[in-house]
Amino acid sequence: MTKLLPLAWLAAALAACAETEEDPPSTIVNAVDVPIDGLSRADIERFNRGDAKFGLPFRAVDGLGPLYIRSSCSACHAEAGRGPGLVQKMVAVEDDGVTPKTDQSELAFGSTIRQGLAAGATTPLAPPDGVQVRVTIRLGPPVIGRGYLEAIADEEIERVEAEQARRGDAIHGRIHRVTFASVPNPDKSFSDFAQGQTGIIGRFGMKARVATLDDFTADAFQGDMGLTTPMRPTELRNPDGLTDDQREGIDLTMEHVDIVAFYLRHIAIPRRVGLTGKGRALFERARCAVCHVPALHTRADYPITQIANVDAEVYTDLLLHDMGESLADGVSDGDAGGREWKTAPLIGLRFYTSFLHDGRAKSVAEAILAHDGQGRTAADAFRALSPDDRAALVAFVEAL
Ligand code: HEC
Ligand code: HEC
Repeated sequence: MTKLLPLAWLAAALAACAETEEDPPSTIVNAVDVPIDGLSRADIERFNRGDAKFGLPFRAVDGLGPLYIRSSCSACHAEAGRGPGLVQKMVAVEDDGVTPKTDQSELAFGSTIRQGLAAGATTPLAPPDGVQVRVTIRLGPPVIGRGYLEAIADEEIERVEAEQARRGDAIHGRIHRVTFASVPNPDKSFSDFAQGQTGIIGRFGMKARVATLDDFTADAFQGDMGLTTPMRPTELRNPDGLTDDQREGIDLTMEHVDIVAFYLRHIAIPRRVGLTGKGRALFERARCAVCHVPALHTRADYPITQIANVDAEVYTDLLLHDMGESLADGVSDGDAGGREWKTAPLIGLRFYTSFLHDGRAKSVAEAILAHDGQGRTAADAFRALSPDDRAALVAFVEAL
């Protein structure tokens, strides 16, 4: 009998496994990229097609390259989450090895390293010989809940910026005003920016350098994968001087960009369970909520009605903050400086195992303690909490 017991246990365990496989426990809680509630069957199908395109690896014959970093979106945003793929950035530095030079013209092709070669390219975009550079990484950040970020009303972001400007402490975030770089999407329902239009509120990218999700999608296809689209019709400049790849002309259609943007726009903020009043109070008291603003209102005319005119619980202010020397990468993005970062939205943190732009923090507590610059007082407040309170605050953040 005793010998049978382990077998019986095994059988029961196997049965339990089979059960969970057939009938996954709430997909709402456990899946990372679920669509927002209330979509029609047709929209869910479109969402799934966009999801598939997000995971699709491209080949040289599809127009990959001449230079690229990875061959699919999901290589850097697995399950729409963080990494494992990453982007390496470089900055020309002074002899001390850290201070960025004011003149970055030695980096003739910009700050992004691109090692992947296709379509006859022979020279990767790497730190040039004889130039002292500092290389840092950016892990592909999570892309869930980004439709909400796009939907937030400009006036809300401006209001928070103005409120922070009046604060007596050091927390003063600023809007990253950017230029619309793309050929406009013929579909004007989400935005109507003209190419070259300035002063637009940047929302996407770790330094908030892009305003809209279709623009970011086109930017990612072009910059990370060497795939041109009607919004970004030309290949980026490269050391070999190549202007096209194996697929002549524009590589992807507008529909392709639109359906990937559709997918991104419709990913829900995962349902939050187990948030405690105590955790929330500590989140306020430690000033986390000043930058990680719990909710911002979305505009009433956002085309996705389910997320229009709601308080979106995004836990970001979408503002740039000087986060000090220890988090700085020295890389400027548009008007954003080397020490500035957009407040990371705290969305779905339970799905991740590394935190901050380069993934250096292996826990939420480590991420909090690494806050420097404008975030220093919050890290200090966290440090000063009792172990119980610290645990309650971490549990709150992990449940976001
Ligand atoms: C080589 C890795 C890599 C690939 C491939 C990649 N991304 Fe990213 N993605 C990143 C990194 C790194 C960032 C942060 C970029 C920045 O700071 O400007 C980012 C940022 C984003 C953001 C902004 C998130 C936010 O809230 O700031 C979106 C949206 C996004 N990517 C979508 C895509 C899509 C769509 C594709 C495929 C067309 C793609 N990415 C391909 C690495 C990648
Ligand atoms: C001055 C604004 C500011 C304050 C105050 C602040 N944060 Fe942050 N937080 C940021 C910025 C900016 C980042 C992104 C930094 C980076 O990636 O290097 C960030 C990143 C994070 C991350 C990592 C998220 C991720 O996806 O990797 C966590 C967790 C976090 N903050 C929690 C907190 C908590 C908890 C508090 C309060 C104790 C707090 N923050 C206070 C601005 C702030």
